[in-house]
Amino acid sequence: MIERVKLKNWKSHHETKLEFDEGVNALIGTMGSGKSSVMEAVVFAFYGTTPSHNSRDITLDDLIRRNPSQADKAIVEIEFRIGKESYSVRREIERDKGTTHSELRKEGELIEAPSTREVTEQVEKLLGLNFKAFSRAIYSEQNNLDLFLNMRPGTRKKRIDELLDIDRFEDARKNTVKVENNMKKELENRQEALGELEDEIDEEELEELEKEIESKKERIEKLQESLEEREKKLENRNKELKELEDKKEEVEQLEEKKTKLETKKQSIQERINEAEEKIEGIEDPERELEKNRKQKEKLEDKNEKLGKLREKKKYLEKHTEEIGEEIEQLEEEAEEFEKFEELEEELEELEEKTDKIKKKGNSYYAERTNLEESLKTLKETDGDCPTCGQEMDKEHREKVVSERKQKIQELKQKEKELRQKLEDKDERKEKVVEKRDELLEYKSSEDKLKEEREELEEKKEKLQDIVEEVEKLGEEFSEEKLEELEKKIDQLESVEEIRELEEKKEHIEEKLEETAEELEDIDFDEEKLETLRDEISELKEKRSAEKQELKSDKEIVEEKEKRLEQMQSQVEKKHELEKEVEKLDQVLDYVYSYKTALKETQIELRQKFVARLNDLMDDIWTQVYPYNDYYSIRLNVEEDYLVEILDSDNNWISAEAEVSGGERHSAALVMRLALSFTISPKIQLLMLDEPTHNMDSAAVEKLAETLRQNSDNLLKQMFIVTHDIALESAATGKLYRLEKKNTETGLTEVEEVN
Ligand SMILES: Nc1ncnc2c1ncn2[C@@H]1O[C@H](COP(=O)(O)OP(=O)(O)OP(=O)(O)O)[C@@H](O)[C@H]1O
Ligand SMILES: [Mg+2]
Repeated sequence: MIERVKLKNWKSHHETKLEFDEGVNALIGTMGSGKSSVMEAVVFAFYGTTPSHNSRDITLDDLIRRNPSQADKAIVEIEFRIGKESYSVRREIERDKGTTHSELRKEGELIEAPSTREVTEQVEKLLGLNFKAFSRAIYSEQNNLDLFLNMRPGTRKKRIDELLDIDRFEDARKNTVKVENNMKKELENRQEALGELEDEIDEEELEELEKEIESKKERIEKLQESLEEREKKLENRNKELKELEDKKEEVEQLEEKKTKLETKKQSIQERINEAEEKIEGIEDPERELEKNRKQKEKLEDKNEKLGKLREKKKYLEKHTEEIGEEIEQLEEEAEEFEKFEELEEELEELEEKTDKIKKKGNSYYAERTNLEESLKTLKETDGDCPTCGQEMDKEHREKVVSERKQKIQELKQKEKELRQKLEDKDERKEKVVEKRDELLEYKSSEDKLKEEREELEEKKEKLQDIVEEVEKLGEEFSEEKLEELEKKIDQLESVEEIRELEEKKEHIEEKLEETAEELEDIDFDEEKLETLRDEISELKEKRSAEKQELKSDKEIVEEKEKRLEQMQSQVEKKHELEKEVEKLDQVLDYVYSYKTALKETQIELRQKFVARLNDLMDDIWTQVYPYNDYYSIRLNVEEDYLVEILDSDNNWISAEAEVSGGERHSAALVMRLALSFTISPKIQLLMLDEPTHNMDSAAVEKLAETLRQNSDNLLKQMFIVTHDIALESAATGKLYRLEKKNTETGLTEVEEVN
């Protein structure tokens, strides 16, 4: 039940608050006074849209008040009750923004906000109706009361099925048919494939193939066994062969060794023969060899001694020569020393001479200094002549001065000459002293000379002895003798060589004997080796033939198995297909029965619903229809939901074609009432906008009376929007008068009448 409606800036409403009660609530007013707007507001509050907005005839902005000045935001709020619980829905529309806020409250507590869609979903659950059902069954829009009558029968059936929820079965049935068809197609495809496979599969060939594979496999097994055996045999033979070949190699190596030893022995024998030839005819070559060796030794000793003596001799000769040279030198020195005394004498003489010169020099010096002294005096004084004591005139003075100057000059010259002489003497003296000192060294040469001469004599004697000894030894030793001896020794040494060679020969013979023994020990048979080789190559040939056969047999088996696998997979496929076909058959059976059940349920349900609807309509008809021309109304299920009314002759006639406008309207109204009662048990609500349009006053009166008296039986709450004053009397709930008094503002004004 809707309890309160609040509108703000909703179409022509500025701020309208309306309260409603159970029973018939009526909104009465002149044209354009804002009645329908209230009903639209209720729909909008529940579902966020109105029929004209839903069909896009208007926009949400068109719902916001325009006059007298344009509002920006419209608010719709309704309070309603379902059972014992009270709810409220509020929605706000903002210009250019659409619905900006929606909320649902339960007992004042917010349970959903702010999404329009989510609030609507909650409301749909609460009312048990969606917008479509609500706008068809609960809210009968102005001029749309005969909505169901205006529909074509087929559409009507569909719409009523929708309202009664029977369409769900139809949808399910249709889906089932689709599924059934698809499955049938599937089944056909599988059956076709199965048929093809059955044609393809050759059971006989399959059996034959299996047998062939079996026998080939047996053959392969046998071949493998035989091959294994052969392999073992071959292995053993190869081992034997290896042993024999090793022996052969050993024999060959020993033979080679033997040959080599024999060759060696032979060459040693030849050398022995040669050596024996050399000493043929010599009686006791060994003694002879020893004798000769001793002789050679002696001779070599002598030669060595001779060499040493010759060296000594050479040394002595050199030494005597050196002494000779020394003696010569000493003789020269002694001779030179004889000049020593001469030099002493000359030195004495020179001393004397220098003394004389010195004395002379001194006298010259004295004379000259005297002269120089007197000259000086002469020049300083102008007295008498120092010499003659006479008074001197100038001329005389000059003459005396010049004479004296000359004399001084002469004396100086003499002094100079004397100095030169003295220097020469000194120089000579120095040389003589030097020479004398040199000769002093030779003073001892005479003694030395004597000594040397004695030594020379001694050495010469020694040399003489050596020369004699060399001569003697030289006669005893000669190179030829030595050479001859060596030749002889060389020849005689063959004796020793023969001895050594004999030893070697003996050793080789021993080895030869050993080798022969070894050879004898080895048990080797060439013939056996050849036979073994033949046997092995035969075994190999057989083995490769068997291998070849085995390989080709395996290939054949592989191919045959491949083919078998193909065939088996086809057989498997066939089995699978058979299973699938069987399953599909079963499912199809099930689908078919399900489909039938759906159809039957649908028919049954429809019959049940429609029977109830028809009962209701029959009941309402008798209450609403004021005349006796028609008794009842029904939906004809067999005739595609044709709406029929029962005439006084008890004939069902079509309500669409054969009746008057008013009668038709009554039929539509009855249908609306019955439908809404049938499908909205939860909210028990009906909203009729101008329900009396086309009805005469008697009919309106009857309707008003019926509604007033029976509305409790029909529905809990009803809204009637009308300009028909006659309907005022129908109101058992609230009655409002709506007006637009102020034509300038165009705003709705509401007056509550009771
Ligand atoms: N957005 C709007 N702002 C202001 N007025 C509007 C707006 N939309 C519609 N109207 C006006 O509001 C008035 C109310 O219309 P409404 O359909 O509610 O009238 P009514 O009472 O049902 O009239 P009638 O009896 O003719 O059906 C109309 O005159 C309409 O022109
Ligand atoms: Mg109206």
